[in-house]
Amino acid sequence: MNPILVTGATGRVGRLVVGELLAAGVPVRALTRRPSAAELPAAVEVLAGDLAAPESLDAALQGVGAVFLLWTAAPATVGAVVERLAAYTRRVVFLSSPHQTPHPFFQQPNPMAALHASIERSIAAAGLESTMIRPGMFASNVTFWWADAIRNGDAVRWPYGAAETAPIDERDIAAVAARALYEDGHEGGDYVVTGPESLSQAQLIGIIADAIGRPIRFEELSPDEFRRETEGRWPPAVVNMLLNAWGAAIGQPAFVTSTVADIVGKPARTFRQWAADHADAFR
Ligand SMILES: NC(=O)c1ccc[n+]([C@@H]2O[C@H](COP(=O)([O-])OP(=O)(O)OC[C@H]3O[C@@H](n4cnc5c(N)ncnc54)[C@H](OP(=O)(O)O)[C@@H]3O)[C@@H](O)[C@H]2O)c1
Repeated sequence: MNPILVTGATGRVGRLVVGELLAAGVPVRALTRRPSAAELPAAVEVLAGDLAAPESLDAALQGVGAVFLLWTAAPATVGAVVERLAAYTRRVVFLSSPHQTPHPFFQQPNPMAALHASIERSIAAAGLESTMIRPGMFASNVTFWWADAIRNGDAVRWPYGAAETAPIDERDIAAVAARALYEDGHEGGDYVVTGPESLSQAQLIGIIADAIGRPIRFEELSPDEFRRETEGRWPPAVVNMLLNAWGAAIGQPAFVTSTVADIVGKPARTFRQWAADHADAFR
């Protein structure tokens, strides 16, 4: 069997895709800009490459059967990278987002959605057989957002406590992506992947409190207070994207799919499970 090339292999989702493929007995090649720092299992062939320098990908693409594409670089090289992929393989599984899903949370102005749509157009134009993986909000976003405050015993100061999302455990995104890479029948698949239940942001904080065994104070901020709170630390475009999405989500449940169960054969992990397994990050 030809190896599968995993891009973003040292990151949140890619590292788990590598693990899923290895567990299924699939030969794995991992792309990273710094092989010496990759810390991937010995069974993985680790190769250097940079999505910002398309010619640097040739060695990693030699002889691959399929590519897991995850885009974390600037948009400038999308076309050249996708052309390169098409020169070496017929099959790509792309980590996109649910930007086509008609739920208000996914339909706000969003530069990431525009980038994902343009990558999908490039993939189609190159004639590649593709599968789109469209995760909603990653469960682990809350680690970036709240872990420092919770570890310090501070209140979580956050806007839109009532906004509901269906956080998806990255392990389930990876399980779906891996199946799409090594099983037959996923060509043309378009998979919106969410967690199993709609939960408000205030409920997510309560679930983390249960996992660490102590209460966490939640202080609701107005959108403008949140802008001031994040000023100089977060890009304003990201802050506005999040505020728009949460604001639009108020008053209705999050969009929930059964994709994980349908593809993997077991239900998506709950946020309670995610929090129990990651409680140390908040202690
Ligand atoms: N967070 C969410 O809620 C959410 C929801 C839907 C979709 N998404 C999408 O998910 C993707 C991010 O996934 P993730 O969180 O798993 O990624 P991540 O952990 O942020 O990063 C993945 C890896 O990308 C690699 N990388 C960065 N720049 C690169 C470059 N120029 N060339 C090659 N590799 C490069 C880095 O590896 P090295 O340093 O080893 O090279 C990094 O470990 C984004 O496309 C995002 O839009 C996120």
